[in-house]
Amino acid sequence: MIRINLKVVLLLCAAVVVVTLSLWTRCGDVMLASRNRKNGGQGAEWDTGNKKMPSGQDAYGGDGIEHGGSSDLQGYEEIDCNINGEYSIGCRKEGGEIYMPFSFLHKYFEVYGKLATYDGYERFEWSHSYSKVYYPKGKYDPRGIFMYFENYNVEVRDRVKCVSATEGVPVSTQWESQGYYYPTQIAQFGLSHYSKNLTEPEPRRTLLEDAERDLLAHWVVPNGATLSRVLDSHTGSHVVEFSSPDSVTSGISLKLDHVLDFMLSLTFKLAVNSSFTVVLQSREKRDQIFQLHYTCSDLLISAQDQHVYHGIGRCGQTQPWRRLTRDLIVDLHKGLAYQNKLKRKLSRSKLKVTGLTFHGSGHLDNLTLSTSEHLSQFYDAAQWLVHHQDSSTGGWPNPVRRRVAPGMADLEPGWYSAMGQGHALSVLARAYHHSGGDNSYLHSALAGLRPFDVASSAGGVLASFLGRIPWYEEYPTEPASFVLNGFIYALLGLYDLSTVAPAASHKAAQLFRQGMVSLKQLLLLYDTGSGTTYDLRHFMLGTAPNLARWDYHATHVNQLLLLATIDHDPLLTATAERWIGYMSGKRAAHN
Ligand SMILES: *[C@@H]1O[C@H](CO)[C@@H](O)[C@H](O)[C@H]1NC(C)=O
Ligand SMILES: *[C@@H]1O[C@H](CO)[C@@H](O)[C@H](O)[C@H]1NC(C)=O
Ligand SMILES: *[C@@H]1O[C@H](CO)[C@@H](O)[C@H](O)[C@H]1NC(C)=O
Repeated sequence: MIRINLKVVLLLCAAVVVVTLSLWTRCGDVMLASRNRKNGGQGAEWDTGNKKMPSGQDAYGGDGIEHGGSSDLQGYEEIDCNINGEYSIGCRKEGGEIYMPFSFLHKYFEVYGKLATYDGYERFEWSHSYSKVYYPKGKYDPRGIFMYFENYNVEVRDRVKCVSATEGVPVSTQWESQGYYYPTQIAQFGLSHYSKNLTEPEPRRTLLEDAERDLLAHWVVPNGATLSRVLDSHTGSHVVEFSSPDSVTSGISLKLDHVLDFMLSLTFKLAVNSSFTVVLQSREKRDQIFQLHYTCSDLLISAQDQHVYHGIGRCGQTQPWRRLTRDLIVDLHKGLAYQNKLKRKLSRSKLKVTGLTFHGSGHLDNLTLSTSEHLSQFYDAAQWLVHHQDSSTGGWPNPVRRRVAPGMADLEPGWYSAMGQGHALSVLARAYHHSGGDNSYLHSALAGLRPFDVASSAGGVLASFLGRIPWYEEYPTEPASFVLNGFIYALLGLYDLSTVAPAASHKAAQLFRQGMVSLKQLLLLYDTGSGTTYDLRHFMLGTAPNLARWDYHATHVNQLLLLATIDHDPLLTATAERWIGYMSGKRAAHN
């Protein structure tokens, strides 16, 4: 039944699509695409007046349209389309053809469409999926970009509460609203910045202060406060020493008028209770001023009106020099979102940095504003992984309870994910490579292999399909869930480590080879003939399959295409090609 319907519908729509209601666009009244367009092309061919349909709905094409020149679009009749004998919708009959509303087709077949105007005329663009295939540009190199993560903006996502100013990494609210450190997300943050470093243009950097010049030319130092240049014995370079007690409410400050660059970096040592504030001003509404406060505290984030607070951790003069990098736009964005005051995306071009003020006392150096600081952000993620690994198990714990599917036991806080472990290996392998062989990254990565040998039922990530085929579990559920994309990310992490440190990581190479064998054995169990499943819960639980959304399906495809550059088994390419076909509506043949 459905197959016949599909054919009829596709046939009808190939000619003309009448949109009665569009979920994707509000850009006009007339939403009619004509098969006669090849004769036309002058945008003003149709009357776009607000004509009303007999039903009283807004007219999206229809009666009132005046046709420019000759047209074979004569009138049409309203006709009921009876759907599988279950319900009816309004259609249109025109000669021997039937037209169905696109809003119906969208829901019925989960297809997508939008009006687009270019080359001087408007057309309707139909698409079967909404996701994009990324074709690798060459053989995958673990020292290079990770997948297509240069397109990721992890910290901007809604499910990121903020970027911690003590750790420099994102805090997730995906499964727990107060926020928690989610190793997978932190690794993705690191991998995206590593990849952006390799793909984006060179940043512009403005050095605001390095204590090598006359300080007082720049700084405003009120009565009662002090500021001087001193030689730092530890670094052997000049640094700024300042003191601005509580009684000096204005603090010592720098007046700025800086546009476009919003990555602030500085090296500092601050006394207890010190803080600094960055002032941002709207370039359009000069009275709109925001203050980003960075305080010596463990506060994650708080905000009130124009004031946003991030804690930079405990301070004290005995602490070593610390380098802090902040994306001021992200910090402001999160402060407004924290108060539910973010109306639309903040635009970098609409703001400027107008000042910087220090309170308390301490030392600072190398204060800069730059377009980007991708490697600092990457290393913040790598450092976080080194410092927050469970040294006894080698795992990066997920501190939240997680329900994967009804019928599977909840994961209790502290579970490990093969995807999180694998992503961490991808970060640490790159940090080991980029740092020129810093062993702290290698040791952490090697320890991170241990959960791959421990059964998922015993606190590790290793499951077994029918007791025979080993599998690395993104979610170590009971029974096993066999999530495909997380497994492949784990394989990539293993491959990255084994490539970057071959002598030290035979274990990673062996886990990778074993995983590739499993992947090839199970891959086609995910193929539905028109898409893929996200996991194998249908087999494990005897329930309906968990179909992969198009973005996950596209991830499967992109992962296979990437693997195919390092493993030439035709199964990988042939499967990827078929799965790409599903994204434009091609289906496997039936009997
Ligand atoms: C990438 O990192 C290198 C150092 O490895 C640096 O010189 C370069 O400016 C960075 N480029 C970008 C776009 O971040
Ligand atoms: C500031 O940067 C210079 C040049 O890279 C470096 O020599 C100096 O040690 C840095 N200052 C601090 C406090 O780290
Ligand atoms: C820091 O601030 C807290 C709270 O305002 C105060 O109780 C404490 O005495 C201050 N510590 C120092 C060393 O100034």
